[in-house]
Amino acid sequence: MCKEEMNEQKDILILAIESSCDETAAAVVKNGREVLSNIISSQIALHTLYGGVVPEIASRKHIEKINQVIEEALQTADVTLDDLDAIAVTYGPGLVGALLVGVAEAKAISYAKHLPLVGVHHIEGHISANYIENKDLEPPFICLVVSGGHTHLVKVQDYGVYEILGRTRDDAAGEAFDKVARAIGLGYPGGPKIDKLAKEGNPDAIAFPKAKIADSPYDFSFSGLKSSVLNYLNGAKMKGETVNRADVAASFQKAVCDVLVSHAITAVKEAGMDKLAIAGGVASNSTLRAAMETACEKNGIRFFRPSPIFCTDNAAMIGAAGYYDFKKGVRSGLDLNAVPNLKLGER
Ligand code: KG4
Ligand code: ZN
Repeated sequence: MCKEEMNEQKDILILAIESSCDETAAAVVKNGREVLSNIISSQIALHTLYGGVVPEIASRKHIEKINQVIEEALQTADVTLDDLDAIAVTYGPGLVGALLVGVAEAKAISYAKHLPLVGVHHIEGHISANYIENKDLEPPFICLVVSGGHTHLVKVQDYGVYEILGRTRDDAAGEAFDKVARAIGLGYPGGPKIDKLAKEGNPDAIAFPKAKIADSPYDFSFSGLKSSVLNYLNGAKMKGETVNRADVAASFQKAVCDVLVSHAITAVKEAGMDKLAIAGGVASNSTLRAAMETACEKNGIRFFRPSPIFCTDNAAMIGAAGYYDFKKGVRSGLDLNAVPNLKLGER
């Protein structure tokens, strides 16, 4: 019996690697849902100096860190490469140079240890982060994915089977947080800083617009909201008025969260479902989590959200997604390449 056939009966141990943006991460995940280790080396402090992620610096830093991060993931999980059943790696979407570091590393380990290789979609990873702490969550469900690069409302029909119901027409939700944070002088990354400052502000102080797309109820648009915040700041500056930054942060955040909540709840109801999950960096936003929870309670919907550490980029989520791909027989060849604009559901 070959190693893969034996795996049908025994636990499946996957080493997962994630390097699509500014986090170098590795994790060991058992049977898709049990995280034995989750090591994240963040480059945020480095990129903060430049006000955002510098792709060239990100790639170089991944190269420096990746072996160390993998070694730590194996040690923490108390396993060696010989105990593994497969290697899962993010191969898109993301920054091409950053992705290539993880992909090349995963291919090298796969080749050296004769281990199956599974290329994973980054957003599929974010969605699958919900499986880690919610052992009873199974498709179908609706998932709102809100990260720095993506805002997708997704119907998860089965493991690895997705229907995109809506997406942003312009900025991603996290991008809007980052741009508004920069405008009010909070720096990068904006999301967590706005989240914190908004706690001291009045969310009803300023009525920022909540964009709706006429012909498509599930699509999002955040660039108008961002411009409206910038206009408000410029207007105040020209009149010589001081701006209450906490009020701006809280009012902006409310405008984003209101739209995210209303679209997500409508999607769940119209799909005749009773489960809603959220995913991605913005899903760690405290106001969004609270507002979504309240709306779900009101509408009899079960609400799932990963702990904040599994919302922002990490490799455990890649291990969770990779497990279900692996079980389905998905295998990548040693010609696996980085695909910076990989679409969800595509291979
Ligand atoms: O999922 P993620 O780590 O990386 C991408 O795949 O893009 O998301 C990063 C984004 C950034 O835009 C960051 O500002 C935002 O998530 N973010 C937050 C919070 N924490 C991270 N946005 C709002 N509130 C937060 N607490
Ligand atoms: Zn991400």
